[in-house]
Amino acid sequence: MNEFVFSYPTKNYFGEGAAKKALAAELPKYGKRVLLAYGGGSIKRNGIYEEIRSLLEAAGKEVTDFPGIMSNPTYEKVQEGARLVRIKDIDLILAVGGGSVSDCCKAVSAQARLSEDLYEYEYTAHQVPTQGVPLGVIVTASGTGSEQNAGAVITYEEKHWKGALWGTAASFAVLDPAYTKTVPMRQVISGAFDTLSHCMETYLGTPREPNLSDEMNEAVMRSVVRNMKNLSKSEGEDMAARSELMWAAAMAENGILKIGKTTDFQAHMIEHQLGAFTDCNHGCGLAAIQPTLYRHLAPSAPAQYARLAREVFGVEPAGRTDLAQAQEGIDRLERLIRDVGLPTRLHEMGITDERILRAVADTAVRMPGCAKQLTSEEIFALLKEAV
Ligand code: NZQ
Ligand code: ZN
Repeated sequence: MNEFVFSYPTKNYFGEGAAKKALAAELPKYGKRVLLAYGGGSIKRNGIYEEIRSLLEAAGKEVTDFPGIMSNPTYEKVQEGARLVRIKDIDLILAVGGGSVSDCCKAVSAQARLSEDLYEYEYTAHQVPTQGVPLGVIVTASGTGSEQNAGAVITYEEKHWKGALWGTAASFAVLDPAYTKTVPMRQVISGAFDTLSHCMETYLGTPREPNLSDEMNEAVMRSVVRNMKNLSKSEGEDMAARSELMWAAAMAENGILKIGKTTDFQAHMIEHQLGAFTDCNHGCGLAAIQPTLYRHLAPSAPAQYARLAREVFGVEPAGRTDLAQAQEGIDRLERLIRDVGLPTRLHEMGITDERILRAVADTAVRMPGCAKQLTSEEIFALLKEAV
């Protein structure tokens, strides 16, 4: 177990009616001016917008809308939000949406209180913002766990860069599984796969011998696999599975499973650059990359990959080597991805252009917790294999 300092600022309100409960308790803590941030309009179609807006107005708040936050939110959108926060002198940002809305608002919150450019501040001056406009997140599409931490994944289009900006963690988060009922099934499942990916990428970091965080992680991963299958089989009707997946997404990213670990997240770094060059769906991109990547990495940490195979994918050791067990685990992971209807190959997402794969391989960040330090050539080769 590595040494650690752990604290976690987000108060979670989970379950049916959580928004009403949360806003009644939280809104009195903040000033009058609220920025109501959301995506491309799903919350207007499913009634969540009306419900939240009337709760805000009933609490006497002055509401400013910040609509149109796109999937894979851009740096330009962050700047637009920060300008609005400054002009309207906002007291509380309320992000209502999936990971994209939450991420954008985490960065907006920090940028609004910073005179320097946020990207330059973090990547040139190597500083971390220490202040932000208070933020609450109402989750309407689960999977990323974005509402649980301060990291915002932002696409800087001009730079062909998609990566983490340190923003503001939510002071409170609303997790009502019923709010996710209208999310298209493919997005629900890609979100669930994102959660599984976060867990695996945490588990496969260092130290490579299992610690308490890993044993808790195994339980979360087994739950995600089971509930992904159940939700998929029930065509989205299984509310118990939906609830479990929503809390698993939060657990995967609230820091608890990362305690004492240096995480891997190499698959994420590759997928983020794929997103920067193609704007692809995050969970689908991971699904198409991860089995191929793991076939390359397992020989460098066979015992760890074998344990994942046994504990999460039910592989029997049957006197076989760690590597043989690990490979069967990866085959089962790939089968799971196919069974729940996600892509296992990049061509299924229309990604075949080798110039893009080359650019992704050349720009993906290398992670210290990964089982092997991959070269650009190795990443390029495995991306071609994943097509
Ligand atoms: O924009 P609207 O109209 O709201 O539609 C959204 C969007 O099209 C729709 N949606 C959301 N709630 C809905 C709904 N549709 C119907 N009913 C509802 N209740 O779902 C679509 C996808 O939303 P989005 O927020 O883009 O998806 P997701 O939650 O998967 O977030 C993806 C982003 O999060 C980043 C990804 O890279 C990507 O940019 N990530 C953030 C992380 C973090 N901060 O910790 C970690 C992840 O690894 C990830 O990188
Ligand atoms: Zn992710």
